Parts: sequence; structure tokens; C-alpha cells
Amino acid sequence: MNRSQLREILDILHEKVGVEFIHYHKDAVINAITKECVNDDVDDYIEQLKINDNLVNRLASKILVGVTRFFRNPQFFETLKQHIPHKGFLRFWVVGCATGEEAYSLAIILEELGCNYKIIATDVSMDRVVQAHVGLYGNGIVSDISKERLERFFIRTSRGYQVKGLRHNITFKTHELFEDDAIEDIDVILCRNVLVYFDHFNYDYLYDKFYSSLNDEGLLCVGQIEQVKSSLFEKVDECIYRKI
Ligand SMILES: C[S@@+](CC[C@H](N)C(=O)[O-])C[C@H]1O[C@@H](n2cnc3c(N)ncnc32)[C@H](O)[C@@H]1O
Repeated sequence: MNRSQLREILDILHEKVGVEFIHYHKDAVINAITKECVNDDVDDYIEQLKINDNLVNRLASKILVGVTRFFRNPQFFETLKQHIPHKGFLRFWVVGCATGEEAYSLAIILEELGCNYKIIATDVSMDRVVQAHVGLYGNGIVSDISKERLERFFIRTSRGYQVKGLRHNITFKTHELFEDDAIEDIDVILCRNVLVYFDHFNYDYLYDKFYSSLNDEGLLCVGQIEQVKSSLFEKVDECIYRKI
């Protein structure tokens, strides 16, 4: 695939999905395109993308990796408990919430701690946001959630487990990290396993955005393989940084 073909595909994606994939690792984007372009004819694939929105959405969803699970990196949630600010009411922003498992995991620990809170959970993918809002998960979640938590926070249905009693404190909505304004008045941001997909040159722009979103001494939490390298934040624990 040559540069102009790649540029044309990125333009189609931007126009139809609203995401500027230039921010993502180039190799990952090319890899996804190569897998989707089954007959190796890139010009033909571009023509198909122009007329077939399903193909465009498939490609976008392949680049926007949505892998997630309840209590991903369980140690993180234990560590976070020790750093949750002491305030009467707390506001959380879960960035790149995918299908909702992370936001519900957070809500579970906040319920257990007896906190008053609001979680705003956002993702660029409308399909994932809708799934997150429905909160219905396959039986496989039993390997990530204790029996006690399943009984307290989920209802068993014929199609799997559906969250109960958590959704009233969570708003799921679409939000594009680069294009849309920061969500304001936030005490803790979880942006885990999202930064890793972006090219490093975009990080400062995002740190500025998170900085403006956070209240004084607010926390920015990232994934296990991610780091915040910015003079705007200091590390307070594994995966947890504080606004300076
Ligand atoms: C690998 S999932 C991580 C889910 C969850 N945070 C976790 O750690 O399990 C990454 C999510 O980030 C979302 N995402 C990627 N780029 C984004 C952007 N520019 N704006 C908002 N969300 C984005 C993707 O749609 C995907 O659902």
C-alpha cells in the first residue's frame, strides 16, 4: 500500500466514522487494512469502502481494539482504593470504556466503599457505548467476578448476566478524545489501555486535556504497560498519577 492509498483510506474513515486515525500507530493501521483487504487489491478495496459503510465500520472497529474485561489488572483496583480522594462527592471519567466492564468494575468498588459518586464513561464507538449501557454480559464473566459480587450486582438472565443497581450512577456516552472537549470537574480519570494505541507525539495534547479536566490533586490512572511522562503529573503509585 502506498502513502496516497493510505491517506485516502484515512480520509474515508475520518469522513464516515469521525475518527482521525492519523493519531494511531501507523503499523497497526496498516496491519488492520491489510487483514481487511482480502484480495490484496488496495484500489478496489478503497472503491468498496466508498460505497459500503459496513466495511468502513469493520475496519474502524479492528483499529479501535475493544478488548476489555471486568477487574482487568485486579491489583490496580486494590491500589486505587487506597488513593480515592476523601470528598463527599466524587466524579470519575472512564476514557475508552469499550463495552462497559471497566466502568462497572469501578462502580462496584465505589459501592462497596460506600462512596457518593458519578461515573462518566466514554468511548468513540457508538456500538460499544450502547452495549455498555445495556450491561448484559456472557457467562464467561464468572471467572473475573466473585460469587458475592455477582449475586449483589448482577441478575442472571437466559442470555447471561445483567448489571443491576449500578447504572443510575453511570452515564455512558460517545466522546472522541482528540476532537471533543474534556469533561470537566473530574476527580479521577481512568484512561487505561487506550494511550498505548496512539503515537507518542499526541501524548502531550492528551495530558493537557486530562489536566484541564481534573480538579486540584485529581488522579490520572493508566494501564499496566502505559506511563505518564509529563511535568503536569507526578507518580503516586503503580499506574496512578496525581495532577501537580
Ligand atoms: C482496548 S480498549 C480498553 C478498554 C478499557 N479501558 C480497559 O482497559 O479494559 C480501548 C478503547 O478505547 C477506545 N478508543 C480508541 N480511540 C479512541 C478515541 N480517539 N476516543 C475515544 N475512545 C477511543 C476504543 O474504541 C476502545 O473501546
